[in-house]
Amino acid sequence: MASSDAIVVRNLKKSYGKNNVLKGVNLTVKRGTMLALLGPNGAGKTTTVRIMSTLLKYDGGTVSVEGHDVASSPDEVRAVIGLTGQSAAVDEILTGRENLIMMGQLYRLTKKSAVARADELLRQFDLVDAGGRSVKTYSGGMRRRLDLAVSLIATPPIIFLDEPTTGLDPRSRIAMWDIINKLKADGKTILLTTQYLEEADQLADNIVVIDGGKAIAEGTAKELKAKIGKDRLELTFAKKAELEKAVAVLGKSIADSSNKELTATTVINDTNKDVAAVLAALTKAKISVSSMAIHKPTLDDVFLSLTGKTKKPATAAKKGKK
Ligand SMILES: Nc1ncnc2c1ncn2[C@@H]1O[C@H](COP(=O)(O)OP(=O)(O)OP(=O)(O)O)[C@@H](O)[C@H]1O
Ligand SMILES: [Mg+2]
Repeated sequence: MASSDAIVVRNLKKSYGKNNVLKGVNLTVKRGTMLALLGPNGAGKTTTVRIMSTLLKYDGGTVSVEGHDVASSPDEVRAVIGLTGQSAAVDEILTGRENLIMMGQLYRLTKKSAVARADELLRQFDLVDAGGRSVKTYSGGMRRRLDLAVSLIATPPIIFLDEPTTGLDPRSRIAMWDIINKLKADGKTILLTTQYLEEADQLADNIVVIDGGKAIAEGTAKELKAKIGKDRLELTFAKKAELEKAVAVLGKSIADSSNKELTATTVINDTNKDVAAVLAALTKAKISVSSMAIHKPTLDDVFLSLTGKTKKPATAAKKGKK
């Protein structure tokens, strides 16, 4: 194993009875970087995280965390990781502060150090005001922040975050992203699972797309997008007649886009050349464009093209559609 690798998973296999859940997953996380494990419901994300964090036995392959094999050296692995699971692991009756102090003591901190660490984490996670309240009064976003704080008690260098923002409103999601980015800036190695393409795009250095228990693609968001999509030029016209003329002039290369009125979209390969050519053709035909925009492919496009599914389960469920 190269010394810059914090997590190395090779050919990981896991079945529940006849259900082959992981069919040979490979992934590597370099120390101090963030990897997003991106996949739809049931892809095997939580299963992978639970195995990497020593909570679940597996059937084949190897998993090594900071050079420690999870099967033969689980205690060494536990000493270097923090896990924020998909379902909360905090006591509802206790206050946020009490939860943190209790956890600190479980990690064998003295009472005094546990209190100091709890207060430090409450400040870091913007929970100072809520710290004295029972957790059952917390909002979803506050709970997720407390979950994360609890997993950081022992200042682990490696952090597993299983869907840290699922169910959060946009503002809480952005607050969580800030926190995760700060952890990264502190030099932590982070493996995060998500169903949100945008989240992987915003946060991660590298992305592994997992579906049906297999890694089906990996790379940076930019690489994945480049592999799949091309840039699109979107032209909007003031009148329907102008749009129709433009479609006639530009021919096959431009598609009358159905979702937006008075807008046509074309794929471009070379931005300067193709945009200039489109504008020249329109100018020659005396067609005026009211606005234009270049769209980069999104991870949505990538995900759809790789899995045949969109990120929305409702759409994905309709077989063969979109
Ligand atoms: N304890 C279990 N017993 C049997 N099957 C299980 C068990 N845990 C998970 N599975 C199955 O394993 C597959 C992968 O589940 P997993 O929880 O890893 O998916 P996931 O990618 O985390 O999905 P989600 O986005 O919904 O959290 C699913 O088909 C699930 O039904
Ligand atoms: Mg899961």
